[in-house]
Amino acid sequence: MSEPAREIVDAIFIAAAPDVRDLPAPVFAEVAFAGKSNVGKSSLINALVGRRKLARTSNTPGRTRELVLFRVQLRDGTFDLVDLPGYGYAKVSKSERRAWGPMIERFLQQRAGLRCVVLIVDVRRGLSDDDLQLLEFLATCDLPALLIATKLDKLPRSKFEPTLRALQRDAGTKVLGFSAETGYGRDALLHTLLEHTGLLPDRPAG
Ligand code: GTP
Ligand code: MG
Repeated sequence: MSEPAREIVDAIFIAAAPDVRDLPAPVFAEVAFAGKSNVGKSSLINALVGRRKLARTSNTPGRTRELVLFRVQLRDGTFDLVDLPGYGYAKVSKSERRAWGPMIERFLQQRAGLRCVVLIVDVRRGLSDDDLQLLEFLATCDLPALLIATKLDKLPRSKFEPTLRALQRDAGTKVLGFSAETGYGRDALLHTLLEHTGLLPDRPAG
């Protein structure tokens, strides 16, 4: 799976904005990272690109409050990542339809560069109602979803497979295990994102 031409050579911050219309126009294919507050979205981005402090992380839920755009430079190509604010932290009134709110909803509906949304859950907690609603919403927008179960380092190895299989059954979508602590699943995630952004050839030659 190690493809030298697809190595990440640099990752930089581009912009942060409270609304999709305030972000710079999309230039490259984009992947967005969504999930409950404090689940490990920003840590996953850092582990993926190999930069410990690119996206800000915190023990306190609600660290990421804006749409944050990063650019990933490969040896042979470029794609962008969007760190989305976590949902389920700010108290939301019952009358509001979706806990993950209008900021994320507008982004998902209007961002033309978006190719795929990575939904991140804590492997010990599984899918919340908000997560399931988001998966349904992505389906109505025709956006491919990839489910990542992170903090896998918190489980004994013997539990990896059965836990991930159960999650895949509940979600009805592909699931990958991940750990920002150990780097588990990093190469598989990058490979899948490159497929979605069109940066991998369909078939290796020969
Ligand atoms: P918000 O921006 O507030 O929505 O949070 P976030 O989803 O971006 O989470 P963040 O990456 O800031 O991580 C939250 C906490 O979880 C931090 O204390 C991280 O160190 C911890 N954490 C994240 N990923 C992992 C992981 O894979 N394993 C372990 N053990 N801890 C993790
Ligand atoms: Mg964050």
